[in-house]
Amino acid sequence: MIDDIERIRAAAPAAVEAASSVDELRAVEADLLGRRGSLTELKKGLGALDPDARREVGAALNLARGSIEELVEARRAALEGAERAAVIAAERLDLTERTGHRTRGALHLVTQTWDRLVDVFIGMGFTVAEGPEVETDWYNFEALNIPAAHPARGMWDTLYVDLGDPETVLLRTHTSPVQIRVMTETPPPIYAVMPGRVYRRDTADATHMPVFHQIEGLVIDRDISFADMAGTLEAFTSAYFGGSIHSRLRPSYFPFTEPSAEYDINCVFCEGSGCRTCSQTGWLELGGCGMVHPNVLRNVGLDGEEWTGFAFGFGLDRLALMRHGVDDIREMYSGDVRFLEQFPS
Ligand code: DAH
Repeated sequence: MIDDIERIRAAAPAAVEAASSVDELRAVEADLLGRRGSLTELKKGLGALDPDARREVGAALNLARGSIEELVEARRAALEGAERAAVIAAERLDLTERTGHRTRGALHLVTQTWDRLVDVFIGMGFTVAEGPEVETDWYNFEALNIPAAHPARGMWDTLYVDLGDPETVLLRTHTSPVQIRVMTETPPPIYAVMPGRVYRRDTADATHMPVFHQIEGLVIDRDISFADMAGTLEAFTSAYFGGSIHSRLRPSYFPFTEPSAEYDINCVFCEGSGCRTCSQTGWLELGGCGMVHPNVLRNVGLDGEEWTGFAFGFGLDRLALMRHGVDDIREMYSGDVRFLEQFPS
C-alpha cells in the first residue's frame, strides 16, 4: 500500500499542472482526493491492516493528501488569477486619445436640447437668463404666490438644504424662481427663457428623475393676452418638433398663474391614434403655462394695471425624449455609450 500511495503522490504534480482551467482542476481534485478518489479508496483498506501497519499507512496517506491539497490550492490560485486577467483584458475600454479618429465624442443630448431650445426662442425674439440651483423659500415658493402651509406646496417634493432657519434654503424644485429674479432685475417689457437644472425628492422611473431640467418662459408687456400665449406656444411647437406636431392647452391649476393651463402636443409615438406612452389619449403632456398672477406681479413691484404677461415651464429632458421618440427618461442619465452614440451632434 505504501507503494500505491507513493505512486499516486508522484503522479499528482503532472495531473494538477495539466489542468488548464478551474473546472478541469476541480475534476482532477475529485479523482485524487474526492469521495471516490484514489486516496480515499486506499483508505478504505486500512481497516484490514494490523495496528502498526495501520498507523504507518495512515500517516503516509495523510502526508500524501496534505501535499496534494497544497498542489491543488497553488494551481487554483494561478488559474483563477489568469481567468480574472482574461476577463479584465476582454472588458478593457480603450481610452487612448486618437485624434482624427471617427468615434469622437459629442455633446450630451441634454446639452444639445438646451442649445436647440434656446436657439428657437432667440429666433422668436427672447433673451436668455439663468438663476441659482440653491434657492431661498422666497424665490422658489413665497414670491410665486405659494405661501408657507399652502396646500399647493405638495405639488413639489422639496429637498431642503441645512442652512439658516429650517426649510428656508432649498434645491429649486422648478425654474419658476428665475422669473422672479428676472422681473426684479429688469424693467418690462420682458421676453425671456430660463433653462436650468431642478431637483425633487422623487424615485427614478420611466417618467421621473430626482434631478432633471426645465425651460421656463416669461413675457411681460402691455396688453398681453392668453391668445398671445397660445400663438407663441404653437409657433414654438412647430419650430422644435416640425410642422406635423401641434399643441393644445387644457385647463389646470398653478398658484402663480391665473388662468392656468397644461401644454400638450400630439403624441409623437402614435401620431394621435393612441398608444401606451400617451395612455391612449393621443396627447403628451409637456408642462404648464398661464397668465402671470396679479399677486406675483405685486410681489416684484410691477403694476398689474399697466403690465400683463404669461409664463410657461416645460420639462427639457422630456422635450428631448419626445422629439427623438425615446420613452424612458432614465436613458438620459445612464451614461450608456450605445444610447449616447445615437445623438452625435
Ligand atoms: N413650475 C411648474 C412646475 O414645475 C411649471 C409651470 C407651470 C411653470 C405654469 C410656469 C407656469 O411658468 O406658468 O410644475
